[in-house]
Amino acid sequence: MHNTMASLSTPPPTAAGTTPKTYSSSFTTTSSSVSSWPLFSKTSKTCVLKSLKHKVTCNAGSSENILHNLDRRNVLLGLGGLAGAVNLTSVPSVVAAPLAAPDISKCGTNTLSGFKPGESTPTVGDCCPPDSSQIMDFKFPTNQAFKVRPAAHLLSPKYISKFNEAIKRMKELPESDPRNFLQQAHIHCAYCNGAYTQSSSGFPDIEIQIHNSWLFFPFHRWYLYFYERILGSLIDDPTFALPFWNWDTPAGTKFFNDPKSALFDTKRNQAHLKGVVDLGYNGKDTDATDIEKVKNNLAIMYRQMVTNVTDPTAFFGGEYRAGKEPISGGGSMEQSPHTPVHRWVGDPRETNGENLGNFYSAGRDTLFYCHHSNVDRMWSLWKMLGGKHKDITDPDWLNTSFVFYDENKNLVRVYVKDCLLTNQLGYDYQRVDVPWLNSKPVPRAPRSGITKKLVGKVKKTEDVTFPVKLDKTVKVLVPRPKKSRSKKEKEEKEELLIIQGITYDSEKYVKFDVYVNDEDDDASAQDQTEFAGSFAQLPHKHKGKTSSKTNFRAGLTELLEELEADDDDNVLVTVVPRSGSEDITIDAIKIIYA
Ligand code: C2O
Repeated sequence: MHNTMASLSTPPPTAAGTTPKTYSSSFTTTSSSVSSWPLFSKTSKTCVLKSLKHKVTCNAGSSENILHNLDRRNVLLGLGGLAGAVNLTSVPSVVAAPLAAPDISKCGTNTLSGFKPGESTPTVGDCCPPDSSQIMDFKFPTNQAFKVRPAAHLLSPKYISKFNEAIKRMKELPESDPRNFLQQAHIHCAYCNGAYTQSSSGFPDIEIQIHNSWLFFPFHRWYLYFYERILGSLIDDPTFALPFWNWDTPAGTKFFNDPKSALFDTKRNQAHLKGVVDLGYNGKDTDATDIEKVKNNLAIMYRQMVTNVTDPTAFFGGEYRAGKEPISGGGSMEQSPHTPVHRWVGDPRETNGENLGNFYSAGRDTLFYCHHSNVDRMWSLWKMLGGKHKDITDPDWLNTSFVFYDENKNLVRVYVKDCLLTNQLGYDYQRVDVPWLNSKPVPRAPRSGITKKLVGKVKKTEDVTFPVKLDKTVKVLVPRPKKSRSKKEKEEKEELLIIQGITYDSEKYVKFDVYVNDEDDDASAQDQTEFAGSFAQLPHKHKGKTSSKTNFRAGLTELLEELEADDDDNVLVTVVPRSGSEDITIDAIKIIYA
């Protein structure tokens, strides 16, 4: 039996259910409405979210503790189904092509990557870990202390100093120690700059890339899992849990700003960290006021966590199997706000946006781990939405493996299928309000039939010569294969806008925004319904070449209803380049149902 009760009785001082009323965020202005979604708040009710339209059925209940919350969540998740899905013994091997963990002894020897051991260029550096010939298979630890990852903005001074001490000790370890701070940072660099090939899957000429596909969430979950255990063991505290930086809350980065702290990083945009985050960061500052930023942030979260992620592919990203490159597209959350936040923290004085603004250096900033703790929390929150919000069941995803060094310096092989339940991994997140869940954007101008008027004035996709360049705004009428669908049809399938074959420069920060039925020349704000989502990419090295190809998708069902355009034949799509888009080309823009 896990030591759950004991450790839960001594959680971090600000653990779930004790959210102080005074946290200094302008987001709190809307937080009262959030208690209508009790899964995430301290109210003591049993609630089930029926659909994304926020129909919540609740029964009053008795007061809850964290443990109670966890149990309830398992019920909502339908653990039985998940547990069944991860039992893969009956999968015929002929269809399975999961990506196998890299052979770290071959790290950096891939001639295609333009990346060699010992090589030190401003963009790569040497990211290979110490070699180990012994690999152990991961086993769930027995008797592990249960951890509650606390919200960074609610940390007590005592917890902050604990975190600080752990990082300090990590930095003091010899550089040859795989638990050393820089070695840990290198893990991220190696897995996303072509240091590893797929040689253990039989494809030595194809690199491993853990971004831009369904590997994004599980890779980073495992990465943090071991990072957290190393920190805990260095301070001899098995309950130590990585704080999450709830982006909505400026106070969440406060303790990172003390230059005397081990948590401080000189390569950051220090001015940014004193203000409200811009979740739609375009690589330059806007003149939006803090209030406007907050409104935009809430709307971006709603877009990316509600309307754009109605099925597993949308949330996790597209498939990526052995022998392939990750070209099917990253999930909605990965693109934005995950990527813009990286760039927003990175130092603009550095050539490559170091540290957080570039994949090779991102792990060198302690804030990376709190940023990703929140990204990982989004996975948990998303699954709580129920319905189609479930983990992928494809055996190739479940059987993908990675290797990491653990707190005892052992190299451990882990599988995606073992990281789907945070409870099983021994942690959960402190419950705080989730204001964006009720922050549905409002239409700038709902005008039914607006696209009818534009026929003849704006080109239809069939009249456009693809690939089209994104050196300026692209406006196009996209035909809808179906219109006026029934409620049932809509529940079964989401109407999706697909931007296919996006070729971009992978060594630049790249971003474009997508709008629908936005007639005016200046694009709508992000808190308006017309804003459909963002495509964003962080710079990284890629197999000796600088261009990458991928796809983008956005959910349209709710948007078109809100814009009173559900009976229209076409959707007006506007793609607005924001950063590094000069050389972007797009192969196709279309609408599908999935
Ligand atoms: Cu691996 Cu936030 O990136």
